[in-house]
Amino acid sequence: MTKTFVIIKPDAVAGGLIGDILARYERAGLRVEAMDLRTIDGAFADRHYAEHVERDFYPPLREFMTAGPLVAAVVAGEDAIAKVRELNGATDPAAAEPGTIRADHGASVRENCVHGSDGDDSAAREIALWFPGSPG
Ligand code: RTP
Ligand code: MG
Repeated sequence: MTKTFVIIKPDAVAGGLIGDILARYERAGLRVEAMDLRTIDGAFADRHYAEHVERDFYPPLREFMTAGPLVAAVVAGEDAIAKVRELNGATDPAAAEPGTIRADHGASVRENCVHGSDGDDSAAREIALWFPGSPG
């Protein structure tokens, strides 16, 4: 059993895709352990994306991620980190495998519907950041 951290990004929430995306994770045998609809501010986005804050693409990403409500969730199951990233698809929807969330619904490299932790350390860090006080 592993845990990962997922964001259903503001584009996907605005597009009415919360149910579709959660159903894909659940059908893959994963289970939601914590979940919250919230709107984050720029300072919080900077903490989540600490590894990207100096990148050229970060200012518009920050704008996008703070523009409206998103769903933050802890998703658990066997190989949860890898399974979520496989279901999400490649960062660029145009390059994502057919049938993945990003291939089906992503609009651009930035507005790509979902986030999934990329490893054990980032999963632990992100779960602690978004759901402080949770068992992790
Ligand atoms: P995520 O962290 O959201 O699961 O996505 P990822 O691992 O596939 O991609 P990552 O490299 O961590 O980038 C984080 C998010 O930043 C936006 N992005 N924009 N060149 C660009 O315009 C660009 N590159 C990345 C995307 O929203 C990406 O998911
Ligand atoms: Mg990433």
